Amino acid sequence: MANGNDIVIETRALTKRYRAGILAVDGLSMNVKRGEVYGFVGPNGAGKTTTLRMLLGLVHPTSGQCRVLGEKPGTPEALGRIGTIVETPAFYPYLSGRDNLKVLARLASTPYSRIDAALDEVDLLGRAGDKFKSYSLGMKQRLGMAAALLKDPDLLILDEPTNGLDPAGMAEMRGLIRELGRGERTVFLSSHLMGELEQICDRIGVIKNGRIIAEGPLEELRHGSRLKVRAAPLERARELLDEMEVVGKIEQDTDTLLVEADPASTAAINRKLVEAGVEVSELFVAKLSLENVFLSLTEEDEPRG
Ligand SMILES: Nc1ncnc2c1ncn2[C@@H]1O[C@H](COP(=O)(O)OP(=O)(O)OP(=O)(O)O)[C@@H](O)[C@H]1O
Ligand SMILES: [Mg+2]
Repeated sequence: MANGNDIVIETRALTKRYRAGILAVDGLSMNVKRGEVYGFVGPNGAGKTTTLRMLLGLVHPTSGQCRVLGEKPGTPEALGRIGTIVETPAFYPYLSGRDNLKVLARLASTPYSRIDAALDEVDLLGRAGDKFKSYSLGMKQRLGMAAALLKDPDLLILDEPTNGLDPAGMAEMRGLIRELGRGERTVFLSSHLMGELEQICDRIGVIKNGRIIAEGPLEELRHGSRLKVRAAPLERARELLDEMEVVGKIEQDTDTLLVEADPASTAAINRKLVEAGVEVSELFVAKLSLENVFLSLTEEDEPRG
């Protein structure tokens, strides 16, 4: 495989079939470039964790190819430059955050001088002397991230890093990941929530049934639109729109309709409603949110091979 210095993760037709016959990853091809924050999003069971584990050499592919930092996954050369929290490190409850990192640094032959730098990166320096068991879940998660940063890695691989956190903890983790992804360092993270990635990532790959079904920068994925119609009576407006050929699917919010239609037909839609005595208080073209794009891409449930 061609592998310039700027491609950090490269997979070609990467496939994993587990022994039970389950096709978890199905011919996955993708490139992650140096310095980008790449989000891997898909519903539960889509194959995200399996892919991440293949990138780390923890799971052997059934077929296909995969290079990480120009190396074969799982080799010491590759692992030495990757930080990960796929495998949550077990921390000692009675040791401080700093002492826990000392244990890990000794095991990995990382110089102790990296410890406070890593703690600082995750904003935990102030509480580094406190016992692990006194940390909040968010702080425990950040200590896990500090452990991943000990080697000052070129690549961070994070599997659902905001899982289990409350909204404030999630926001904090998002901010942290954005910081860590600045500059040359590459971040590859997974989530089943598009909203989570939307605010962090430069590029997103949507995975479903083990395949990438859409990939690109956020703006590119968010190309569709809907007509937003606020009218009264809403039920009557819906009936009238249903009759129109230019109108596709109609979804109803509490007091508005989201209408699939060519933006060019906005005037005709307005006329039809007004002529029928329906009061239109709002009518505009709304860009699809990424969450909408994600749901429409992933909602139909096809059987998998
Ligand atoms: N060790 C295993 N043995 C057999 N099947 C497995 C194994 N690990 C995962 N699978 C199956 O492979 C498929 C993909 O699982 P995977 O954990 O990679 O998905 P995921 O996208 O990470 O899902 P989630 O969002 O729930 O974490 C699922 O059908 C799962 O049941
Ligand atoms: Mg998973």
